Amino acid sequence: MNTTAPAAPDIVCEGLVRIFTVADIEVQALQGLDLLVERGELVALVGASGSGKSTLLSILSALDAPTAGRASVAGRDLPSLSTRERVTYRREVVGFVWQQTARNLLPYLSALENVQLARAIGGDRSRPERAGELLDLVGVAEHADKRPAELSGGQQQRVAVAVALANDPRVLLADEPTGDLDEHTSVEVLQTFEAVNRELGTTALIVTHDPAVSEHVQRTVQIRDGRTSTEVLRWTHTDDEGREHAMAEEFAVLDRVGRMQLPTDYMDRLSLRDRVRLRLEDDHVGVWPGDRAAAPAEAPAEAPTVPAGGEPAAGETRRSRRERAHGEEQNDD
Ligand SMILES: Nc1ncnc2c1ncn2[C@@H]1O[C@H](COP(=O)(O)OP(=O)(O)OP(=O)(O)O)[C@@H](O)[C@H]1O
Ligand SMILES: [Mg+2]
Repeated sequence: MNTTAPAAPDIVCEGLVRIFTVADIEVQALQGLDLLVERGELVALVGASGSGKSTLLSILSALDAPTAGRASVAGRDLPSLSTRERVTYRREVVGFVWQQTARNLLPYLSALENVQLARAIGGDRSRPERAGELLDLVGVAEHADKRPAELSGGQQQRVAVAVALANDPRVLLADEPTGDLDEHTSVEVLQTFEAVNRELGTTALIVTHDPAVSEHVQRTVQIRDGRTSTEVLRWTHTDDEGREHAMAEEFAVLDRVGRMQLPTDYMDRLSLRDRVRLRLEDDHVGVWPGDRAAAPAEAPAEAPTVPAGGEPAAGETRRSRRERAHGEEQNDD
């Protein structure tokens, strides 16, 4: 066996399509979405209302099935699961945290009993102390005996994370877990996801509108019109004097067949629409408005074409501003 082979990603979505039909009108909630989340990654999914975030999470939690495309989690091909396998999948492989605290916890049970019940449903009767350990991990051990109504919104969501972890899932999915919380409490809940990811190595995908989320994750994926459009990667750079700098770089997402989305502000600024001129340069691809009137000033002299696998002609190099892939120093400490 080849032990050096990299672990397969925990979440794989390829060309995911979900069409809802309501009163003969079709809504394309997902339009060929691609997403890979590696094992042990903590990723945020952000995007405008209606962009398809909850639709994606419903599919990943096996509550809904895609119209087309591939979705697999922890090596399980979701559309092909039987009803029985789906139940096992939802109990053992994934854990969920929803926005509404009432959907996560049973109101008449204490925090500890909520976690214990989730473990009992999962069938794990070993290590009765595990429920308490999980409450400790999410920072609410001292509230173990309180019912949800006796806890703050942030504390309830942290208990919800413990419930989601009750059966040691490989993957944690959260849909707007901080949506009902104020700014300060949201940060505490996001720190809880960070702690869980760090301590247990659980892969996590958090859907959110919360602008603060990007500081708590390694990667933020933007979803636009049912497709992933850009990603921001974060890492720490140590300079020659040993000082650590938080770095971030934004990338456009390119799918397998070469499709990508131009940011709308770029399209607006350069009036890019319908058709654009593309030109292969030595180290980048140039995009110009397709408008004939704009051609003499900005576009290459001869009508540019995209050669099918061809090399750029001699002398074609033209520097362009590197606006998109820009390294940005976030702070100095
Ligand atoms: N069950 C459904 N039936 C019909 N249309 C639906 C259904 N669920 C979602 N949609 C539509 O699909 C699109 C994507 O919805 P979705 O709920 O995934 O968006 P979202 O990104 O989660 O938005 P929000 O940030 O507001 O929660 C929307 O146009 C929505 O109206
Ligand atoms: Mg939603």
